[in-house]
Amino acid sequence: MSITTNGPAVSSRALGVLLDSWRASSAPGYAALADRIRLLVLDGRLAVGTRLPSERDLAAHLGVSRTTVAAAYSTLRDAGHVTSLRGSGSVVRLPDRARVPRSAPEGDVLDFTKAAMPAVDGIAEAAQRAAGRLGAYLSEPGFDTVGRPVLREAIAARYRARGLETSADQIVVTLGAQHAIALLARVLVGRGDRAVVETPGYPHAFEALRAAGARLAPVSVTVDDGWDEATLMQTLRRTSPPVAYLMPDFHNPTGATMPAEQRVRVLEAAADEGTVVIADETMAELVVGGPGGASSALGGWPRPLPMAAYGPAVTIGSVGKSLWGGLRIGWIRAERPLVERLVRARSAGDLGTPVLEQLIVADLLGDLDGVLEARARQLRHGRDRVVAGLRSAFPGWTVPSPAGGLTTWVGLGAPVSSQLVLAARRHGLLLAAGPMFGVDGAFERFLRVPFSYPDDETDRALAALVAAWDGIDGVQAPRGALMAEVV
Ligand SMILES: Cc1ncc(COP(=O)(O)O)c(C=O)c1O
Repeated sequence: MSITTNGPAVSSRALGVLLDSWRASSAPGYAALADRIRLLVLDGRLAVGTRLPSERDLAAHLGVSRTTVAAAYSTLRDAGHVTSLRGSGSVVRLPDRARVPRSAPEGDVLDFTKAAMPAVDGIAEAAQRAAGRLGAYLSEPGFDTVGRPVLREAIAARYRARGLETSADQIVVTLGAQHAIALLARVLVGRGDRAVVETPGYPHAFEALRAAGARLAPVSVTVDDGWDEATLMQTLRRTSPPVAYLMPDFHNPTGATMPAEQRVRVLEAAADEGTVVIADETMAELVVGGPGGASSALGGWPRPLPMAAYGPAVTIGSVGKSLWGGLRIGWIRAERPLVERLVRARSAGDLGTPVLEQLIVADLLGDLDGVLEARARQLRHGRDRVVAGLRSAFPGWTVPSPAGGLTTWVGLGAPVSSQLVLAARRHGLLLAAGPMFGVDGAFERFLRVPFSYPDDETDRALAALVAAWDGIDGVQAPRGALMAEVV
């Protein structure tokens, strides 16, 4: 790998924020510091190629001896996470091979950093049917920056079925929801503009907004209390930001859902300030419902209306979670003038969505209710297994049982998320530490645990967590029964 000598630099202050409570561990200071920097590199919060502060600077900022920082950098160098070049300081890198420590059995690593599911049944058959229809499109050039009419109409029909009048010309088909966020950010955000985001929130949305030049204005969301409405309103009124990016349904990672009356108030306040609310509804249809045993397919949970039913909002959707991430199909629902701006702006980044995938999705949207019911059953089972397993194994943790989405946002009771994630890697389990979901670190007391995986993987992951928890130090770690005894 080539090392850039003129890559970005991280200041001692910025690194200090990312390091957060790195001293929570009882390991020697240099080892704790090295470990925390390593995790920042592994989970992408410190980009490869970033220049670290000088030893002297970082030591002064953290209030530790220079020897401690020097030893930490040296440990990182030995492990291949840092290269030191004369004249250009210490630069962050990934070790040539092992992204996962050798102690984790190769090929047997569980990747729980992603909250996703395998494809629904019937995708291959839908693909065959779609291939049969492809002939009708082959005489066209195939560069489709707005979406095939058949898919735009199917998406519009889905909104209508969910209670929101929508026409096909309000839909732009994108390459997944992530592309939709980035495209909206590019069109709506100027350099230096503020963008309201939730914290914790979806980290790749932070990246997309920042890449468009936004300064993020965080508003807190908690499992129990949902959105900090006072701060949200104040931020809207004080800064009149051009955009507010929100996940009102089964918010990732907390699972919170915004009450209807709050939606109305937020959208009204945003409209008063000229703020475009971008509602990311990627999770909206992943209803899991009440605790196991609920008789109806959706566990009695009412299906939330789309955000734009409560006031002016641009909404983002995707089949990435409901059907399959591999289709890479998402969309934006907006008023026509914005649809036109988005389509015009799009060609700077991509020249359209593949036609075959669009035909596959149009086919599958015909029976989305059936698909979602099956998903809900699967997710309810997974959620109940994970929640029961965690509550039993870790009585000191707070383990919510969300009514939708794919994850539970667990309170660990101590600022040890990064430590735990590093320890879990050594047991072959990859997880996203709480600070991944913060705007500037924080959330060391939280861990996002997906419940979207098959039983055997879930059980192995829980066993790895138990082993990892036992292995971290500096924590009072009361534990209950082992997973094997409870699931
Ligand atoms: C809230 C949220 N938005 C967007 C995305 C990206 O979705 P897609 O795979 O459709 O790009 C995800 C994926 O995890 C997500 O959780």
